[in-house]
Amino acid sequence: MDAKDIEADLIRVHCTEEQIQTRLGELAVEVWDHYEGKDLLLVGVLKGAVMVMADLMRHLPGSAPMDWMAVSSYGSGTKSSGVVRILKDLDADITGKHVLIVEDIIDSGLTLSWIRANLSSRNPASVEILTLLRKPDAAKVEIDTRWVGFDIPNEFVVGYGLDYDEGYRNLRDVATLAPHVYS
Ligand code: PRP
Repeated sequence: MDAKDIEADLIRVHCTEEQIQTRLGELAVEVWDHYEGKDLLLVGVLKGAVMVMADLMRHLPGSAPMDWMAVSSYGSGTKSSGVVRILKDLDADITGKHVLIVEDIIDSGLTLSWIRANLSSRNPASVEILTLLRKPDAAKVEIDTRWVGFDIPNEFVVGYGLDYDEGYRNLRDVATLAPHVYS
């Protein structure tokens, strides 16, 4: 689905499909160089990171395994509470591995802060973070994020894995959702 297919639901496009692919290509080269000769494991956080993981991996100039976690924030409403429950844990034992967490977006930072602490407690060789998007103005906790695709404004964005009520994940671009859709 392209932005023009759902023009009435969107306010503006932040990152086009082409911009996303170009940036992921750059990041993949940096990641590959950084982990050269090391036991790298890419860890995606369902569901939003599905697109980023698929495209980042295909931009890597060599083979690396992936694993997945699914988490849910406790509490009501749409905002992260920072208290996280694991719905699906990793299949792999990450002891001694270099873990790269792959995310679609860091909003408040609360989810990733918890996930990083949780994975760090399992004796990996290292834990780093790559996120396609980051909203600096929404941060509630500071997270050391090694690779960031794009910093974006604090707006309700959808597409490229990001949803509103499970919709819009298949939009090829990242765009701000029009308020009439959710208000
Ligand atoms: C999104 C996103 C991050 C989290 C970021 O996931 O994928 O995991 O929110 O928010 P935070 O920085 O404020 O903690 P969501 O809970 O919407 O689930 P989803 O990936 O299944 O869409």
